[in-house]
Amino acid sequence: MRQTIDLPLVVDRDCGVPLAVQVAGQLREAMRTGGLKAGERLPSTRGLAALLGVSRTVVTDAYQQLYAEGWLDGRHGSGTYVADEALPYDRPGARAVEARRVRHHEQARPGVVDLRPGRPWVLDYDTAAWRRAWRSAGELAPDAYPDPYGHPELRELLADHLRRARAVPVGAGNVMVTRSTGNGLDLIAATLLGPGTKAGVEEPGWRAARHIFASRGAQVVPCPVDEQGVIVEALPDDLRVLYTTPAHQFPVGGRLPIPRREKLLAWARRTGAIVVEDDYDAEFRYDVAPLPALYGLDPERVVLLGTLSKSLGPDVGLGWLVAPADLLDAVAERRVLLADRTSGPVQRAVTTLLERGDLDRHLRRMRLEYARRRAVIVEALGPYVRGDTAGLHVMLALPAEVVPGLVRQAGERGVLLNTTEPHHLGPPRVHGIVLGYGSASRADLRRGCAVIRELIPPEGA
Ligand SMILES: Cc1ncc(COP(=O)(O)O)c(C=O)c1O
Repeated sequence: MRQTIDLPLVVDRDCGVPLAVQVAGQLREAMRTGGLKAGERLPSTRGLAALLGVSRTVVTDAYQQLYAEGWLDGRHGSGTYVADEALPYDRPGARAVEARRVRHHEQARPGVVDLRPGRPWVLDYDTAAWRRAWRSAGELAPDAYPDPYGHPELRELLADHLRRARAVPVGAGNVMVTRSTGNGLDLIAATLLGPGTKAGVEEPGWRAARHIFASRGAQVVPCPVDEQGVIVEALPDDLRVLYTTPAHQFPVGGRLPIPRREKLLAWARRTGAIVVEDDYDAEFRYDVAPLPALYGLDPERVVLLGTLSKSLGPDVGLGWLVAPADLLDAVAERRVLLADRTSGPVQRAVTTLLERGDLDRHLRRMRLEYARRRAVIVEALGPYVRGDTAGLHVMLALPAEVVPGLVRQAGERGVLLNTTEPHHLGPPRVHGIVLGYGSASRADLRRGCAVIRELIPPEGA
């Protein structure tokens, strides 16, 4: 039996597809093709249920699924609307919009499992330590004029942190306090790059690096990686800057072996390039011995970028840039001209967290938790897992033709995934899913992995 309404929606009770999936699918299609437009109001769940002759739960489930995918927006107490920017989560540029929505639909639908990368666990702070840090930040008036290098006491503490956590022999004079990795990379780009210069970025690699370099006028050169990291023999000789993630290649997950680190630095010395080492998730390492940071191996040719985005969260807005003193001075000069700075109160709060050992304690707790989550993934999806020795994400290597359907069907079942595809500048050479385990509890992760496992076609099928 079929029933239609104006939208037009149809439910077919005999086709074996759950009614909520049918309703969500048709609404999604209407939004995708423009039948329903941004800002338009959807019928109430009660009204649509009555029109379709289905239970209200069917419509509620369908709406919640579409919230989860970012298609819908709910304004408290005033109904359900097509979201202003109804971008599917896998499209470039959708991240900022998604972030707002995720917060929103996590409330709307606790069942959603968000396995996209780049989201740390932010629900488990030591709230007393956090409040104490912010109380201390509030005790002082803001500085009249910010120091482009950052607060001297925080630079000391960050240098200590790097010496302890990463065995990097660094003095405070080489450290600048930034807002994030992205901020540090942009300052380097603004200082060293411009029209007529070439900047290498790992391929596949962090897409923000490509956008930052291009926005400063440089020509972006994709530099291929294999399962260990960047391939040194494939690097051209005319790069001004090379951006790389040796501790945990993003997104493939390789750890650059020491001989390759040596080769990379020899290449940099020979060509005069500066190597930018993005150390974004190096605090989290599992079952493997640490490898020396590139910066420690050649502090004259390497800029190291670090961030609190993976340990405390990107919303805190604090990172660091470590560079040779003359380059650091040039960056600081440029920073002043660009009117760029790091918030003083944020620096004070983080100073307190470091001084009191709160950040170290948080890292120790989270290392254990992330190691357990990583074990859940390896147990459920072992043969497909790559790059699980560090960080908060792994890559699932899957045949290219399987990936789009799997991501879509997982989304329909409330499991949000990202693919490796948008991390390429050229045609995709690596296929699979970048599976983040920062923002899903172990129980959710188990559920998400089970859904993925079910959706991977049997070998040879
Ligand atoms: C490769 C890489 N570097 C750095 C970051 C963190 O960037 P930021 O410090 O700008 O938040 C991320 C976050 O997703 C990342 O994937």
